[in-house]
Amino acid sequence: MIEARGLTKRFGSLVALENLTLNIGAGEVFGFIGPNGAGKSTTMKILACLLAPDAGTARVAGYDIRTDGDLIRRAIGYMPDFLGVYDDLTVDEYLQFFAAAFQIERKKRKGVIDSVLELTDLGAKRHAMVDSLSRGMQQRLGVARVLIHEPKVLLLDEPASGLDPRARIEMRELLTELARMGKSLMVSSHILSELAEMSTSIGIIERGVLLYAGSIQDAYARVRAGERITIMLEAGGRTPAEVAEALSRDDRIAKVGVEHEAGGACLVVELKAGRHGHHFLLELLMAAGAKIGSFTPEGVKLEDAFLKLTTGALQ
Ligand SMILES: Nc1ncnc2c1ncn2[C@@H]1O[C@H](COP(=O)(O)OP(=O)(O)OP(=O)(O)O)[C@@H](O)[C@H]1O
Ligand SMILES: [Mg+2]
Repeated sequence: MIEARGLTKRFGSLVALENLTLNIGAGEVFGFIGPNGAGKSTTMKILACLLAPDAGTARVAGYDIRTDGDLIRRAIGYMPDFLGVYDDLTVDEYLQFFAAAFQIERKKRKGVIDSVLELTDLGAKRHAMVDSLSRGMQQRLGVARVLIHEPKVLLLDEPASGLDPRARIEMRELLTELARMGKSLMVSSHILSELAEMSTSIGIIERGVLLYAGSIQDAYARVRAGERITIMLEAGGRTPAEVAEALSRDDRIAKVGVEHEAGGACLVVELKAGRHGHHFLLELLMAAGAKIGSFTPEGVKLEDAFLKLTTGALQ
C-alpha cells in the first residue's frame, strides 16, 4: 500500500529526510517512531502529496506521488499533527464540509457522517461546537474527518499526542478497529510503547535516517544482543563449573559466568545477537545435567530497545 524508495528532502542545508525506503503492506499497522525533528511529519506529508521530495519516489495505494496526486488524495486519509479545526462550526457542519469537499453525494452524506461519528464515539457531540470539544475528542474528530471518503490508507501523524492515558487507550482502540476493518495505517509517535501493541511492523527514524524497519519481534531480537539470563542452580545436579563449561561450547552464547550467592550458585549467560529464543538454552541446561532452580531472563524493555536502536548501538 505504501512503497517509498530513496526519499530525500532538504530544507536549505538541513537534510530532513535521507534516502528513506520502506514498504507497508495491505492491512498493516506501521508504527513510525522517532524523536522530535526526526522526519516523521516530513515523510507523511510527502506520502500525502503535500510536499515534493528532492529525490526518490513513492507509490501510495498503487499510485505514483509524482503524477497521481489526485488519485492518492482520494485513496488516503491524512491526519496532520496539528489539527486546524474551524472553531465556528459544529461537529456536524465540520464533517458536512469535508463530505462536500470529498464530493460525496449529497443524499449519502448523512449516512456517512452517522457512521464515522459512531465509529469515533462522537455521536453525542454532533451539535456541539468544534472548539468546545476536549483535546481527545478533537483528535477523534480528526480521525472521523479522514474516514469520510472511506480511504484504504490512513496516514495519521501523532494521533495520540497530548492525550491523557485514558484518551490514549481510546485512540488505540479506535485505530485497532480501523485496522480490523482492513485499512492500512501509518501512525507516528515519539513513544514506541504507545504503538507496540497495535503495530504489525515498526520503523524507527532519527535525524532523517530510517534506522530500522521490520517487525517488533525482529527489533527485539536485534536488541537482544547481550541479553543476560540468570540461572539459579540447585544442589544435586552437575556443578556450576561443569554446566558453564558445557554451555560455553554453544556458539549462540557469548559468555557464561558463575556467581556464588548466599542461596547457591548462579550462572549468568550472555547471548549473542540473533533470534535464538530461550528454549535452546533450557535444552542445553537439561542436557548438561543442571538442576534448574530458577531461570530469569533480563527483560528487554521496549524503551531500552528504542534507545539502543537510536543511539547507533546497533549496525
Ligand atoms: N517547512 C520546513 N522548513 C524548514 N525546515 C523544516 C520544515 N519542515 C520540517 N523542517 C525540519 O525538518 C526536520 C524534520 O521535521 P519533521 O517535522 O519531519 O520532524 P518530526 O519527526 O515530525 O518531529 P516532531 O516529532 O517534532 O513532530 C526538522 O529538523 C524540521 O525543523
Ligand atoms: Mg511531526
